Amino acid sequence: MAEPTMTEDLGVIRDPSRAPANLRPIITVDGLVKRFGSRTILDGVTFAVRPGETISILGRSGTGKSVLLKTIIALLDPDEGKVTVLGRNLHELAERERLNERRLMGYVFQGSALFDSLNVLDNVGFSLTQQRLDPEEIRHRVQEALEAVELPHVIDRFPSELSGGMQKRVGVARAIIDKPRVILYDEPTTGLDPITTDSINAIIQRLQKSHGITSLVVTHDIRSALTISDRIIMLEQGRIVASGTPTEIQATKDPWVQRFLGVMPTT
Ligand SMILES: Nc1ncnc2c1ncn2[C@@H]1O[C@H](COP(=O)(O)OP(=O)(O)OP(=O)(O)O)[C@@H](O)[C@H]1O
Ligand SMILES: [Mg+2]
Repeated sequence: MAEPTMTEDLGVIRDPSRAPANLRPIITVDGLVKRFGSRTILDGVTFAVRPGETISILGRSGTGKSVLLKTIIALLDPDEGKVTVLGRNLHELAERERLNERRLMGYVFQGSALFDSLNVLDNVGFSLTQQRLDPEEIRHRVQEALEAVELPHVIDRFPSELSGGMQKRVGVARAIIDKPRVILYDEPTTGLDPITTDSINAIIQRLQKSHGITSLVVTHDIRSALTISDRIIMLEQGRIVASGTPTEIQATKDPWVQRFLGVMPTT
């Protein structure tokens, strides 16, 4: 029997705005509090992501965006509140089960976080090698993932031989290698020129449309957030200060949001 496609498997709604309100969220974050010592970084964050949705999380540097992603993928544990992914609370699982569940999510690290001493094949195929897949199968799957990020000719190169934008795309290839249902992107376009930024945004959108992948994108790149998102969540000092569709966010009168969007001067 043919393997179900990811889309059939998930029952993905391609247009999330038409998703029934009762569709089970793929990620829920409920009252999340994260502290480091006496500093509260996330201060009661609550939101849900529906299957197939692309949500951007916008906020200033140091406001807790990366900490939020790391808590969702259970690299960090919450101090209060609860996170579920596909109905399961990763934080309650034993380490081994946690690792298995984590495979449902791809993670594009802030900075590409590639291993300098490994070539692209070994970087992108890292988790497949750990699962002891056949080397030929790994090479084939890595090549497929590289084609999905429009880098068909770099499989034998080393990270130092790639531009920053290419490294980010290799990071995306590594995130999709295990055919995840969800991808968490940490600053996928920061520091890139507008054309490279557009090509990465197009890849994020294509993965969502053709594979029904749910995306959570952390960024301070407002232009990208407005382009790719079904919804935007704005984070400030560990709290959500605004959320809505790009149109709703642009229409909001809140002075802080307007300043962040560059509509009002920062004084
Ligand atoms: N492991 C850690 N131990 C202690 N403090 C931490 C740790 N990780 C993050 N922090 C602190 O938490 C705060 C939020 O960090 P985070 O990396 O989430 O910011 P960010 O919103 O992603 O910023 P940027 O846009 O610059 O990437 C920062 O003040 C940071 O110093
Ligand atoms: Mg960050």
